[in-house]
This record gives sequence, structure tokens and C-alpha cells, in this order.
Amino acid sequence: MDNESVEQYRSWFSRFVQEHAADNEQGQRNLRLKEEHTAGVCANAHRIAAGIGLDATATALAETIALFHDLGRFPQYVRYRTFEDSRSMNHAVLGAKTLLERKVLRGLPVQERSLIIRAVALHNVFILPTGLDDEMLLHAKLIRDADKLDIWRVFIELSERDAADWPSAVGLGLPDTPECSPAVITSLNRREMVRLTSLRTLNDFRLLQLAWIYDLNFAPTLRLVLERSLIEQLAASLPQTDELSQVADNLRSYVNERLHGATTLESAR
Ligand SMILES: [Fe+2]
Repeated sequence: MDNESVEQYRSWFSRFVQEHAADNEQGQRNLRLKEEHTAGVCANAHRIAAGIGLDATATALAETIALFHDLGRFPQYVRYRTFEDSRSMNHAVLGAKTLLERKVLRGLPVQERSLIIRAVALHNVFILPTGLDDEMLLHAKLIRDADKLDIWRVFIELSERDAADWPSAVGLGLPDTPECSPAVITSLNRREMVRLTSLRTLNDFRLLQLAWIYDLNFAPTLRLVLERSLIEQLAASLPQTDELSQVADNLRSYVNERLHGATTLESAR
């Protein structure tokens, strides 16, 4: 596949978004959030692809996956008026099904078609399945990094606004109270990801997003975490306690270890 196909898919995506326009302001804000998120994920995917030295074909594939990764969000919102998969359906699977049903990728070789559809379907799984071939694994990892970077951007921008002013579908309905659940903090201290089912407060959700750092795959993504001061910006909306500043320190150490290896960390101590 080439850049020309990516351009065609961009036009197709714009038409698809228009087709799913909401008839009220609140719905439009929610959908606009996903449209802007898609643009952010595409930019991140391009940047990571360049950073790891992918060729033109692989870059075009990565951008197409980014463009379509949240396709399911649009029919999900139209049908269920929510972005909560647990109250509606898995948006990644819905996106993959939509690509198939609408035969969007019919111009591509079967192998590229199936790579894109599987990467879309896998972009939100808790842990990637074992046994994926190298190319599949590369693209599944790349979209997951690109997606996380832009979700952080969205939530940092939202944290500067009053929660009452957020697009209605983003808060997961969790209370914005000062507590953090001990089990969630324990996961972070173990450098583990947090499951959605263990969330009790909006702070837990903020911690879940920080824990994604332990799931990042590529050095260019880790460098962007530092460049954009993401740990500091995300931690700023959490209560300023010793326990949570330790969580942030651990995250910084982890990123530095991944980027520079344990030796540099030792000498930096
Ligand atoms: Fe998604």
C-alpha cells in the first residue's frame, strides 16, 4: 500500500464521520473528541514510524491503522450514546467489523487487509495475545503506543477544565473524590497495568492512565513521554501525597531505565 491509498482512506473516514453526525450539541462534542483523537493518533503513529525507521509501505500501514483504530466509536455512540464498552459493545471489534462489512480495504492485498483489521481489533486489549507474527506484533504495538500518547493529551487538556464542562461521554461516571484505591497504587508499584474493573474513583482512572507507561513499546514513545512532561502533567491532577509522588518517581525511573539502560540509572543515583 502507498500514500495515495492513505489519502483515499482519509476522505472515506471524513464521510463516515459526517454520516454519524449527532443531532445535538452534546453528541457533536463527544464525536468531535473522537475525530480529533484520531488525527492525534495518526500524527503520533507517523512520528513513531519515523523514529523506528519504518519504510514507506509500513508507515502507510501504520497510518491507516491509526486512522481506523477508533472507527467503531462512531456507530457505538450513535447506537448506544456512550463510549463505555462495558455498557455497549467492544468498540475495537465494532471498528474491525465495520471495515469488513463496508469493504473499505477491498483495494488492498489480502495480507495487508487482514493486518489492518486485526491491529484495529487488538488496539484496546488488556494484553496482546501471544503467537502474533513479527509484522502483526509491530503494528499492534505501534497503534497501542500512538493511541496512549493521544489519550494522555486529551485528558491533560480536559484536566485544565472543570469536570462539569467535559464532553459528557469521557468521565466513565466515576466520582471525582480525593481517594485512590490501594489496589490500584499496588499495581503501579509493581509496574503492572490497572484493570478497568478495579476503578472506584476518577483518581483511580488517572492512575490507570499513568500505568500505561509500563505498557509502552518503543523508545520514540518513551522519549515523547519525557519531552511532553507527561508524567508530571498527569500527576498534577492527582492529590499531592508522598505515596503518589513515589509513584511518579518510579515511573520516571522506569522510562529512564528503558531509554538508557540500568547502568546510566546506577551512575545517575
Ligand atoms: Fe480505542
